[in-house]
This record gives sequence, structure tokens and C-alpha cells, in this order.
Amino acid sequence: MKPVSDIIAEKGGMVLCVDENESVFDAISLMADVNIGAVLVKRHDTIAGIFTERDYLQKIALKSRSSRETTVKDVMSSPVISARPDDTVADCMEVMTNCRCRHLPIVDGDQLLGIVSIGDLVKSLVEDKQSEIDQLSHYITGSY
Ligand SMILES: NC(=O)c1ccc[n+]([C@@H]2O[C@H](COP(=O)([O-])OP(=O)(O)OC[C@H]3O[C@@H](n4cnc5c(N)ncnc54)[C@H](O)[C@@H]3O)[C@@H](O)[C@H]2O)c1
Repeated sequence: MKPVSDIIAEKGGMVLCVDENESVFDAISLMADVNIGAVLVKRHDTIAGIFTERDYLQKIALKSRSSRETTVKDVMSSPVISARPDDTVADCMEVMTNCRCRHLPIVDGDQLLGIVSIGDLVKSLVEDKQSEIDQLSHYITGSY
């Protein structure tokens, strides 16, 4: 099973972040503009938390709080569950399943290398399975 660093190498290590003092409105505007479901929250140069669509649903929309008057640090999820670059795609899937999260920052020590979503992992698994099927089909047809 391939390491998650392969996915980061393929999709790039760019991670969209917001400062913890930004408003929730600015965070969701960025998420909508780029069409993503989560942003990492920074305090100075460190990762303070993660803010996701689910945080918005549960802590803003259902509580009738104002997204313009609430700062991200008040509603982010913290601490952030992360993975290491040598963790496999299956390891990351297991963490997401157990922790009920859909985004994992990939960190090596204090270095942020990228972020993977559940969609990235499913895409990688489907590609691997297709490649196995192609190899087996080739083997079977080639053996006759
Ligand atoms: N075909 C693909 O390559 C592909 C890959 C991932 C997701 N998707 C699709 O996108 C939809 C939603 O995906 P999702 O639920 O996995 O999550 P998502 O919408 O949050 O993620 C979409 C993409 O944006 C990236 N991303 C998310 N947050 C980011 C951030 N803060 N900084 C930088 N990149 C970030 C993810 O890694 C992923 O590649 C689904 O329909 C899924 O099938 C497609």
C-alpha cells in the first residue's frame, strides 16, 4: 500500500489556511471560492486547529451565531488529528474512520507537508484497484 506522501507528491503540498482571528465569514468565503471543505487554522506559524463544513453546521448554523461576528478560533476543532508522510493510504483511511474526520494534514515533525481529504484517499484506492485489475486481466489474457 502506498504512503500518503505519494498523494502529496502528486497533488502538491499547498494548504489553504486562515488566521485564528479571522471571521468565520471570511473562512467560509475562502472555502466556497476554492470549493473545499476545510481550512487549517494558524496561530502565528503553528497549526492551532482545523475549521470544516461540519464545524460551521454544528457551531454556527444550528446555534444561530453570526459568521461575521464569530472568529474562527471560537469554533475550530482542536487539537488537529494529523498523519505522517510514511503512513499508508489505508492507515489514513482508518484514522478518518475512527476519528470521524475527512481531512488530515500531513506533518513531519513541525513541518506541514500538505493535506489529504477523504476524496483524495478514495481516488488513490480506486486507482490502485484498477491497476491491479488491469495487471490481472493482462496476466490472464497473456497466459492463454
Ligand atoms: N477526482 C479527484 O481528483 C478528487 C480528489 C478529491 C476530491 N474529489 C471530489 O471532491 C468532492 C469533495 O471532496 P472531499 O470531501 O474529499 O473534500 P474537499 O472538497 O475538502 O477536498 C477537495 C480537494 O481539495 C483539497 N483540499 C481540501 N482542503 C484543503 C486545504 N485547506 N488546502 C489545500 N487543499 C485542500 C483536498 O485535498 C482535495 O484534493 C467529492 O465529490 C470528491 O469526489 C475529487
